[in-house]
Amino acid sequence: MASKLSILSLVVLLGTLLYQFVLRELLFATLGLGRVILPVSEFPYKCHRITGDHNIQACEDMWLDTQSRTLYLACSDALSRRDWMPNVHRLNASGRGLNDHVVAMDIDNPSTTGSFTYRVLKTPGYSGVSGDGKLQVVSVSGIKSADASTNHLYLVNNRPSADPKTGVLLDNTKTGANTTIDVFSTTPGSDLMKHVKTFADAQISTPNNVAVTKDGGFFFTNDHGPHKFGLQHHLSPVLATGDLSYCSSTGVCKKVAGGFKFPNGLHLASDGLLYVPGAAAGGITVFKPAPDGSATKVHYIDLNYPIDNISEDTNGDLFAATLPKLISGLAGFDDPLNAPTPPATVWRVRRLDREVADKYEYSLSKVIEDRDGEALPGTTTAIHDALTGRLFLSGET
Ligand SMILES: *[C@@H]1O[C@H](CO)[C@@H](O)[C@H](O)[C@H]1NC(C)=O
Ligand SMILES: *[C@@H]1O[C@H](CO)[C@@H](O)[C@H](O)[C@H]1NC(C)=O
Ligand SMILES: *[C@@H]1O[C@H](CO)[C@@H](O)[C@H](O)[C@H]1NC(C)=O
Repeated sequence: MASKLSILSLVVLLGTLLYQFVLRELLFATLGLGRVILPVSEFPYKCHRITGDHNIQACEDMWLDTQSRTLYLACSDALSRRDWMPNVHRLNASGRGLNDHVVAMDIDNPSTTGSFTYRVLKTPGYSGVSGDGKLQVVSVSGIKSADASTNHLYLVNNRPSADPKTGVLLDNTKTGANTTIDVFSTTPGSDLMKHVKTFADAQISTPNNVAVTKDGGFFFTNDHGPHKFGLQHHLSPVLATGDLSYCSSTGVCKKVAGGFKFPNGLHLASDGLLYVPGAAAGGITVFKPAPDGSATKVHYIDLNYPIDNISEDTNGDLFAATLPKLISGLAGFDDPLNAPTPPATVWRVRRLDREVADKYEYSLSKVIEDRDGEALPGTTTAIHDALTGRLFLSGET
C-alpha cells in the first residue's frame, strides 16, 4: 500500500535528438487527425514517470516560468479527490485533502532520485478557512511582475463553505463549495509564497481555471456555470450552462459568454487571443478579448477530443491535454490508486500566419498518445519546454 500511495503523476518526456531534427515533421505529417488511439511506443519520446514522492501527486495543473526555469505545480492527494472535488460534484467537505500545496520545481536541476529539486511553498500568515491555513488547490496560473522579479500565482481554491460566524463547515452537498481565486506572490528560488488577495464573488461559482491579464485581472471558466450542486450541476455539461467570466483587478466580476459544455483550462495566448477548451464535447472557442473584460468570439477550432487544458510554449505553439476516453478518465476519481490509467493524447495547436490580422487558421498535430495508459498519467495538463524539447505532463492520479 505504501508504494501504491506514492503513485505519482508528473511525467517528464525526454525528446531525443533524433526526434528533434528528423522525426518531428515526418511524425506530424503522417499522424493526422482521426480518433485512432495509438500506443505510446509509436512516439519517439522517452518517458520517465516521477514516482515515490508524496509531495508530487494529484498535480492537476502547472505553470512554467520560462525565465527562471521554474515549474509551479498545484498538488493534492489523490485519495481525497474522491471526497472533495466540487468541480465534479464531490462535496464531502470532511474528506477534503489537508495537504494541498504548490510545488516550485527547478526543471534544469535533476535530483538524485530521478526527479528535480523542488520546494513545497509555505504560506505563512495565510488564514485559509476559519483559520485552518489550508488551501484546496485545483489550478495554478501565473504572471510575472513588470520588472520580472516576482511571480504572481493565481490559484483556484476550492474552499468548503463554512458558517461565517462559527467557522463550522456547512453541509456542502446543500450549499456547494465556496471557491475563491487566491493570489500569492513568490520569487524564483523562494520556499514560500505570500498571500496577496482573495477574489470572492457570486460570479466565481464553479471556477475551473484562470487566465491572467497584464493588468492583474483575469478571465476564468465556470465549468458548471452558476450550478454548484444538485441536478442542475449534473446536467450542466449537457445543457451547456458553463460560462466564460472575467474579474477586474479590483474584483468586479461579470459573465462574458455562456453556452459551454464543461469549459476548462483556458489560455490567454501571446497572440492576444483567448482559447477556451471544452472537456465534454471537445473543441476550442477562440475569443478576442478587450481591455474592459469583454470578448468577441472569432473562431472555433474543431478538435474533436475532450480537452482538459491548454498551455503555450515560447514558440507560441499551444499544447492541449486531452482524454480521448473521457469516461475512463473519470473512473479514476472513485478508485484513484487502482483504476486503470485512461488513455491520454497531447495535441499541438499551431496558429498559421498569426501576424495576418483576422486570419484564424490552425494546424493540429498529435504530439504523443498513450492508448494503454503505459506511460502517461490521466493527463490534465501538458507543458512543452521549447528550450529542451521536453514535455511535462501531469494528471489527477
Ligand atoms: C466523508 O469523508 C470522510 C473522511 O474521509 C469519511 O469518513 C466519510 O465516510 C465520507 N462520507 C461520505 C458520505 O462519503
Ligand atoms: C484542467 O486544469 C484545471 C485546473 O488545473 C483542472 O481543474 C481541470 O480538472 C483540468 N482539466 C480536467 C478536465 O481535468
Ligand atoms: C466564502 O469565502 C469568503 C472569502 O474567504 C468568506 O468571506 C465567506 O464568508 C465565505 N462564505 C462561506 C459561506 O463559506
